[in-house]
Amino acid sequence: MQKIKFTIITLFPEALRPYLDSSMMWKAQDRGLAEFELVNLRDFGIGPHRSVDDTPYGGGDGMLLRCEPVFAAIESIKAKDPAAEVILPTPAGRTWNQKSAQTLATGSCRHFIILCPHYEGYDQRIMSLVDHRISLGHYVLTGGELPALIMVDSVVRLLPGVLGGESSAEIESFSHGDNIEYPQYTKPADFRGMQVPEILLSGHHGKIAEWREQQSGNAEDFESC
Ligand code: ADE
Repeated sequence: MQKIKFTIITLFPEALRPYLDSSMMWKAQDRGLAEFELVNLRDFGIGPHRSVDDTPYGGGDGMLLRCEPVFAAIESIKAKDPAAEVILPTPAGRTWNQKSAQTLATGSCRHFIILCPHYEGYDQRIMSLVDHRISLGHYVLTGGELPALIMVDSVVRLLPGVLGGESSAEIESFSHGDNIEYPQYTKPADFRGMQVPEILLSGHHGKIAEWREQQSGNAEDFESC
């Protein structure tokens, strides 16, 4: 399968690079399975201050991302790859889930541009550039950078070859619906009096599989302290 490429348009490329160059994301790049390009929106800003935002017509608080820098940034990327699809992280979008990650990991589009808004909002005309509006959940974040990292991470770890030959990606949480995975243990078998369940030490693979199935439960809701 052709490698997947994510181009992330952001005002904070320096905040994203360390994460993209760590762990599984680094491995995926190293193995030629994924490529991450960071585009600094400021490079497309207007005037000597490279301004990217302005006040809203009709009044109101805050600043909005202007069209010109965003259009220029996306057009410069699409000039090289017209087939790239644009994702906008927004709380008003479709909710991202494991199936979304699988669709991107295995789908025919191999280049996604993620546009990270980072102010109170953006000029609505920017929407004409967007193919997919994605929400990470019903809460409001300061910008699109964390949603971008979450989306990229959840896709990249599903690429064949990234998790290193094991079937971890398949058996891990959510792969078979909404179940969370079973409890797991490593050495020592007794840690401060907390014992590893006997069944896991038995070597009986059938019974272990049955136990794991029983232990796979649904995630509990977060309860406040
Ligand atoms: N931007 C701000 N909040 C967001 C969210 N919950 N999901 C995606 N993008 C966002």
